[in-house]
Amino acid sequence: MEGRSLLTRITSFLSNLLSSDKDILLPRSAHHKPRLRLQALLSHCSFRRVILWGAASILLLCLALAPSGIRMPRERRLDQVDFQQDGNDAGGDNVDGNTADEGVVFVVSPGREKGDGAVWGENVPGWLRFRHLDGFYLGLKALVPVSEYRPEHPSPAGEEWPFPLTVSYTGLPTPIPFIPQPNYDSAEYTAQYHEVEPCYLDKDNKVPIPDLYAYDGLVQGQPEPLIGSHKLLGLRDDVCFDRFGRYGPYGLGYSFEEGGVEVGLDTERAGSEAVWAKTGKINYTRIDWGDAQARCYKANKKRFLDADDQGDPSKKHEERSFQETERQKIPRTAVVVRAYTGFRWTQHALLNFRAMISELALRSGGEYTVHFLLHVRDNSEAIWADPATAQRILDDNVPAEFHSLCTLWSEEQMRLVYPTQFGLSFTNPSGGDIHGVYRSAHMPLQYFAMTHPEYTYFWNWELDMRWLGNYYELFDRLGKWGKEQSRVEAWERSAKYYIPRYHGEWDNFTALVHNETQASGRPAILGPVYFPGRTALRSELRGESFLPPSCTSGSDMSRCGVGEDADLIVLNPLFDAEESGWIFAGDVTGYDVNLPIPPRRCAIVTASRLSRRLLAVMHEENWRLQHTMFSEMFPATMALHHGLKAVYAPHPVYIDREWDLDAVDRSFNGGRDHSSGGPGSPFDLRNEHNHKGTTWYYHSEFAGLLWRRWLGYAQYDGRGPNGGRSGEGTLRGGKEEEERPESTGRLCLRSMLYHPIKFEHPDE
Ligand SMILES: *[C@@H]1O[C@H](CO)[C@@H](O)[C@H](O)[C@H]1NC(C)=O
Ligand SMILES: *[C@@H]1O[C@H](CO)[C@@H](O)[C@H](O)[C@H]1NC(C)=O
Ligand SMILES: *[C@@H]1O[C@H](CO)[C@@H](O)[C@H](O)[C@H]1NC(C)=O
Repeated sequence: MEGRSLLTRITSFLSNLLSSDKDILLPRSAHHKPRLRLQALLSHCSFRRVILWGAASILLLCLALAPSGIRMPRERRLDQVDFQQDGNDAGGDNVDGNTADEGVVFVVSPGREKGDGAVWGENVPGWLRFRHLDGFYLGLKALVPVSEYRPEHPSPAGEEWPFPLTVSYTGLPTPIPFIPQPNYDSAEYTAQYHEVEPCYLDKDNKVPIPDLYAYDGLVQGQPEPLIGSHKLLGLRDDVCFDRFGRYGPYGLGYSFEEGGVEVGLDTERAGSEAVWAKTGKINYTRIDWGDAQARCYKANKKRFLDADDQGDPSKKHEERSFQETERQKIPRTAVVVRAYTGFRWTQHALLNFRAMISELALRSGGEYTVHFLLHVRDNSEAIWADPATAQRILDDNVPAEFHSLCTLWSEEQMRLVYPTQFGLSFTNPSGGDIHGVYRSAHMPLQYFAMTHPEYTYFWNWELDMRWLGNYYELFDRLGKWGKEQSRVEAWERSAKYYIPRYHGEWDNFTALVHNETQASGRPAILGPVYFPGRTALRSELRGESFLPPSCTSGSDMSRCGVGEDADLIVLNPLFDAEESGWIFAGDVTGYDVNLPIPPRRCAIVTASRLSRRLLAVMHEENWRLQHTMFSEMFPATMALHHGLKAVYAPHPVYIDREWDLDAVDRSFNGGRDHSSGGPGSPFDLRNEHNHKGTTWYYHSEFAGLLWRRWLGYAQYDGRGPNGGRSGEGTLRGGKEEEERPESTGRLCLRSMLYHPIKFEHPDE
C-alpha cells in the first residue's frame, strides 16, 4: 500500500512537471511549485487543525484497534450489480450508450453480509462493524422513476428488504435543465418584486448564463441520507446529478481549445453531449467574473435594498408604510470564500467556483455576490502600499478569471483593526496567536462586513467544500427555512442531529426535543443569556433588544421568531461546548478568569450564514468589550449571549455504512439530555471518529471518496483490514469500470454537501 501510493505520488509529480504548461487558466504557483508542500500544510490554519485533530483521532483509533488482532481476507468484492442478458448479445460498444444496450436488464442486489467478512476484536469502534453500502456506486443506467425507487438503506420502517430488484435499461436517459431560481418572468413574481434583467457572461450581452442539468428520477438502490433531509429544507429529492450535467455547462468535458478546462475527457462520458445541445460548449477563456457580477448587479440595481437601508429600522418602517403599493426590495447576500496564498488551484476548483458565481450571482440577477477574501500569509508584503505587489500576489495565487473578486487581508491588518489587549484565555490548546486566522477566523469577515454596508447576509465558505447540486437551491432554501423557524426551543432543536428515519417527521422531532428539554430540568433558552461577568453592548445599554415584535409578551409565543431571518445558519449542530470534550472548548479570551467560564455554543465547520447585525455584535465584542473565542465557537456564542436567532439547518448527510438507526442516534446524539453537547458529545475527541464515514465533517474520509467516484475516478474502496479506511482496499470505479458493458455507468447522486475535498483529479 505505502509503496504504491509513494509511486503514485512520484509519477503524478513528474507528470505534473511535464504537463504544467497546459494549465493555462491557473495561477503561476500552481504551475511551478511541487504538489506536496509540507510547509504549506503545516502553516495553514485549517490544514494544521486537520492534522492536529486528525493525528489525535487516528492515534485513538489505533489504540482502539491495536489489541484486537484483526484478520481479514483481502479479496476483491463481487460487483454489486449482477448482469443478465435477456437473450440478446448485450455486450459490445456502449460508448454511445443507446441502441447497442437495448434490452439489458440489471439486477440491483446490494450485498447483505455484515462487516465485509472481517473478524472483529472486542475494542473496535462499533461503526466499523457495519457493512459498507454499495448503492452509492450504481450509475445512470439504473435510473428509475421515483415511485419505483427503493433505498438500499435504510429500509422504510415495517417494510421487508425489497432487493433484488430489476432495472430494464433501454438507453441512457436524457438530462433536463434544473432551475431552482424563481420564474422571474411570471406575473406572480413581477407583482411582488421588481423585474429581473437577465445577465450575461460577456460584455456584449451575447452569452447568457447556462443552466445545469439533472436527471428526472433516482438510481435504484441508492442509500438515503441518514442525517438531515432534502424535503424538510425544500431541496428537490426526486432528481439526481451526474458530473456532466452539473459541471459540463461550466467547462467540464471539453478542451482548452474549445474554451473548457480539459478535465472529464479522461472519464466515461457516454451521452454527455446532451448538456451542450442548447448552449454549445461555452468558451470560458479570458472571462472576468468580477466584471460579469458588477454588470449584472448594475442592470438589476433597482431590485435591491441599498447600503442606506441597512441597520436603520426606523427609516425602513417609514419607507414601508409610505410605499405600501410598491414592490418589495430584496436584501443582498455576499458569499465570502476564504482563500489563502499558497492554495494550489486546480481545474476542478475552477469549475466549482464558476458554478457558484453563475448560479448564485448571475443567474439570480445579482441577488448574491461572490467574493474571495484572500489571506496574504506573509505579513511583510506591502499589499496596500503598492498595487504592483498586490497584483503579483494575485498573479501567483489566484486564477486570473477570479482576480477582480479578491479582497486581500493579513493578520497584521487584524492587529491594527483590533488593537485590543485581549487579556487571559481560559485555555489555549493550540498556543496560537489571538489575532491569527486559526483562533480568530471571524475577524477579517467582520471587517469585511463593516466595510461592505450593501450586504445584509454573509455566507462564510471554504475552498474545500463542494455542493453537488445547484448553489442557488442550497443557499436560497437554507435562508428560507431559517426564516420559517420559531425561536421557541430553537437552541435545543439545533443542538441535536435530526435523523428522519429514526425521529419521524420534523414535528415529531420538535415534540421529542420539547419532552427532552422538560425532562432535563433546564429552562429552554429564549432571548439573551445572563451570566456572571456579562457586559452589555451599546445597543443593550440603550434598551434595545434583538427579539422581534412576534416575541413580545402577550403574543402567541409559538410564532416567536417565525418570519424573522436567522442571524446564524450553521451546517452542524449548535452544541453546548461545556464538558463536551471538544478540544477548544475552553479557548475563551478576555473574560474574568476568576469567574466561571461563560456559557458557550459551537458548531464545527465554519461554513455558515451570518447576518450583518451578528457580525456587528462580534465586532463590538472584539474591539470594545475585548472578548473573543475560538473560531467555531465565537459566532454561535455571541448569538447565544445577545439573543440573536441561530439555527442548525439539518441538510442531507450520507453515511457510507449500514448503521443501525439507534446506533446513529446513540453516537451522534450521545451528549447530555440526548443532545450533541456536554458529556458524551460526538465532538469529543474520543468520539469524533464516528464522523469519518459521513459526507460532511472536517476529517471525513467518505466525502472525498464518494466525490471522486462521482467525478469518474477510481478510488480505493476503503474495505479491508482495520475495518476499511481511506486509501485501503480495492481500487474501484473510474473510466475502465464505468465503461464496461456490465457496469451501470457513471454515478448520478442526489444533491449533497461534501467536506473536506482536499484533491479531485488522481494526479493531484
Ligand atoms: C475563446 O475565446 C478566446 C478569447 O476571447 C479566443 O481567443 C478563442 O479563439 C475562443 N475559442 C473558441 C473555440 O471560440
Ligand atoms: C409523528 O407524529 C404523528 C402525529 O402526531 C404520529 O401520528 C406519528 O406516529 C409520529 N411518528 C413517529 C415516528 O413518532
Ligand atoms: C412527550 O411526552 C408525552 C407525555 O409524557 C408523551 O405522551 C409523548 O408521547 C411524548 N412525545 C414524544 C415525541 O416523545
